[in-house]
Amino acid sequence: MIPFIDLQAQRRRLGEPLNKAIAAAVEGGAWILGPQVATFEAQLAEFAGVKHAVACANGTDALSIVLMAWDIGPGDAVFVPTFTFAATGEVVALAGASPVFVDVLEDTYNMDPASLEAAIALVKREGKLKPRAVIPVDLFGQPADYRALEPIVRREGLKMLCDTAQAFGASYNGRVTGSIGDAASTSFFPAKPLGCYGDGGASFTNDDGLADLLKSIRNHGAGADRYENVRIGMNSRLDTIQAAILIEKLRIFPEEIELREAVARRYNVGLGKSNRIRVPNVIAGAQSTWAQYVIQVPDRDKLQSDLKEKGIPTVVYYPIPLSAQKGYAHYPSAPIPVSEKICKTVVALPMHPYLDAVTQNRIIEAVQESVD
Ligand SMILES: Cc1ncc(COP(=O)(O)O)c(C=O)c1O
Repeated sequence: MIPFIDLQAQRRRLGEPLNKAIAAAVEGGAWILGPQVATFEAQLAEFAGVKHAVACANGTDALSIVLMAWDIGPGDAVFVPTFTFAATGEVVALAGASPVFVDVLEDTYNMDPASLEAAIALVKREGKLKPRAVIPVDLFGQPADYRALEPIVRREGLKMLCDTAQAFGASYNGRVTGSIGDAASTSFFPAKPLGCYGDGGASFTNDDGLADLLKSIRNHGAGADRYENVRIGMNSRLDTIQAAILIEKLRIFPEEIELREAVARRYNVGLGKSNRIRVPNVIAGAQSTWAQYVIQVPDRDKLQSDLKEKGIPTVVYYPIPLSAQKGYAHYPSAPIPVSEKICKTVVALPMHPYLDAVTQNRIIEAVQESVD
């Protein structure tokens, strides 16, 4: 079986320095929020070109912590795409606010600005909720169309929290994700383009006051003194071992983004010729980190079973729009015809920086054979 994401290939490449970094974190004895965490936060902020990176326990908390800092809660509307991983909507509901679902664009899978306008109009018309924030998602590695979204967010006086869990390190018109929005958040889940060996996450902002709040909230609402609790917070700290691993991985991350780009290009060339396959489209001015390589085909079940027979794994992100999931169906939503359609046709192929051309050609040929 071809690996869907070959993390062991990366592990081999990282080699002895990674073992030493882990051993040093263990020997150091400051196992939670130790010195490697502060070092990693500084490197991460520099990489994204943002003033503050605040690490925490996972990408879901990284979103929650920002919503808590903005005091978003009951009676508030937060606009989220319906075609996303559950965490994007979950954190809004957990805050006691209402997610309001927005459709996505078929060519990028990211938030549709026209649908965002429709969702805002819906909330205003109903008059029950107060529009507070938008959480665009940089799905599959590609930044959302911020050039179109930002004017809407500004005009409506909303906050923008960019969920870049799948796309940290991507860029749009020279801005790296993490630095876009009033705040942003990412995940270091192992399968993410920049992942650790467990759970981890980070939030980003250029706002000094917000950064202080994020640091307090991730550590039980701590004040200047450790046992002073000046607000309600949570326990969401990054382990020192994970920071030590991430420091090693960040060193090779720019090259890995290039390698991912080369793999995506090979797929686009190999599969783009068929008019029965829709290959991904990256908007002008954007670079994707290619967390996933997602195509659309008319008969997805057939493709998945044909590829499985040949030892080629595929995954469907996402089979059901979030607003149609049982836990979320009672929240408001704009019409979502695109998400309803693509949930039936999308399928992700193996994608990682170490996918060699020979193996990739096998995948491309198998897809062509099944689809044509
Ligand atoms: C779009 C999106 N948001 C949030 C998350 C949550 O990250 P974590 O799994 O680290 O909590 C994920 C993780 O899969 C994600 O894909």
